[in-house]
Amino acid sequence: FTFPSLLVLLLALTTVIVFLKSDLTNWLRLQDQNPCACEKCLSEDNLLALHRLNHSVEPFLTANTNVSADAFRWWKRLQHEQRDFNYYKSTVHKLFKLFPPVVDYGEPSSDSCRTCAVVGNSANLKGSHYGSLIDYQDVVMRMNTAPIKNYESDVGTKTTHRVMYPESAMDLDNSTHLVLFPFKINDLKWVIQAFTTGFYGRSYAPIKSKIKANKNLVMVVNPAFMRYVHEIWLKKKGDYPSTGFMALILALHICDEVSVFGYGADNDGNWSHYFETLKRKNFKTGPHPGKHEYALIHELAQNKTIRLYKGW
Ligand SMILES: *[C@@H]1O[C@H](CO)[C@@H](O)[C@H](O)[C@H]1NC(C)=O
Ligand SMILES: *[C@@H]1O[C@H](CO)[C@@H](O)[C@H](O)[C@H]1NC(C)=O
Ligand SMILES: *[C@@H]1O[C@H](CO)[C@@H](O)[C@H](O)[C@H]1NC(C)=O
Ligand SMILES: *[C@@H]1O[C@H](CO)[C@@H](O)[C@H](O)[C@H]1NC(C)=O
Ligand SMILES: *[C@@H]1O[C@H](CO)[C@@H](O)[C@H](O)[C@H]1NC(C)=O
Repeated sequence: FTFPSLLVLLLALTTVIVFLKSDLTNWLRLQDQNPCACEKCLSEDNLLALHRLNHSVEPFLTANTNVSADAFRWWKRLQHEQRDFNYYKSTVHKLFKLFPPVVDYGEPSSDSCRTCAVVGNSANLKGSHYGSLIDYQDVVMRMNTAPIKNYESDVGTKTTHRVMYPESAMDLDNSTHLVLFPFKINDLKWVIQAFTTGFYGRSYAPIKSKIKANKNLVMVVNPAFMRYVHEIWLKKKGDYPSTGFMALILALHICDEVSVFGYGADNDGNWSHYFETLKRKNFKTGPHPGKHEYALIHELAQNKTIRLYKGW
């Protein structure tokens, strides 16, 4: 070999190696394109049809969340808040002096599959034997004071997240997230004071003045998220969405796979709870567009966006 031809050969070889390497990287990237590690991810195809899902709406408040004046105006009428935007902002500021930032749920990732069970309180859970199926999911979200004891075989035993507002609060164990849905500024003050001095304000129902729960696992739902559920998902039907419906949409935002239990009426068409017989037989859903919410849940199930377990 002459020296120049050796050079040419080396150059050619390098080109081939560089080419192969970049090709390999591309190929690996292609293999990596699944948005999550589930068999079917929520963010795939069906969400393209689901134009309602908007991932730029932050589900949880953080110290840096900017709630718009518009969103505040919407939120403030839910339970007749009299105080102004600045008072709201200073309360949120106090909130994040006490509670650490939310555990970041972030975007779906290709190496994990987060499965969630959203467990409502419908009487259709009675005799369902869904307990082990519910416990099998990574995240188990329950509502308000829904009990577990004596209902284990139908509702399971695991609770990773408990959704509540002050009037529906209960003590939690050390590993359960308290997910607060705030409907007024006092609800934000409540969560601060229930962990510190005690809350002594009044509301339409009695409120626990103190709560036992893990301070590091408190998550507060963003008022702008609640408005988004009302305007985008429910097309502004009803006064505002029920907590159960908002929790389900929350799950669509933080999970790769969502299974829904204990929503809607039972087989006889009664709306009731699995743990109590409601006195008013034709129990309606108050300011919430219950029928419309349930129709939408059905549609989500038909579109295979969620799995809906209807019980018995
Ligand atoms: C269900 O799928 C249809 C057809 O893709 C779509 O038009 C509709 O908006 C979907 N419904 C929901 C609730 O996502
Ligand atoms: C999604 O939400 C963001 C923040 O609220 C908003 O600016 C944006 O217009 C929304 N996108 C769609 C497609 O509605
Ligand atoms: C919120 O608004 C402030 C100023 O209005 C801005 O500096 C900040 O970047 C915004 N934060 C987010 C998360 O958009
Ligand atoms: C609860 O968990 C925290 C850590 O998240 C820990 O510091 C604390 O000691 C635990 N408390 C009890 C009573 O187990
Ligand atoms: C549920 O519906 C059935 C049949 O309509 C009725 O007999 C029963 O009393 C109802 N139960 C409750 C708790 O309302």
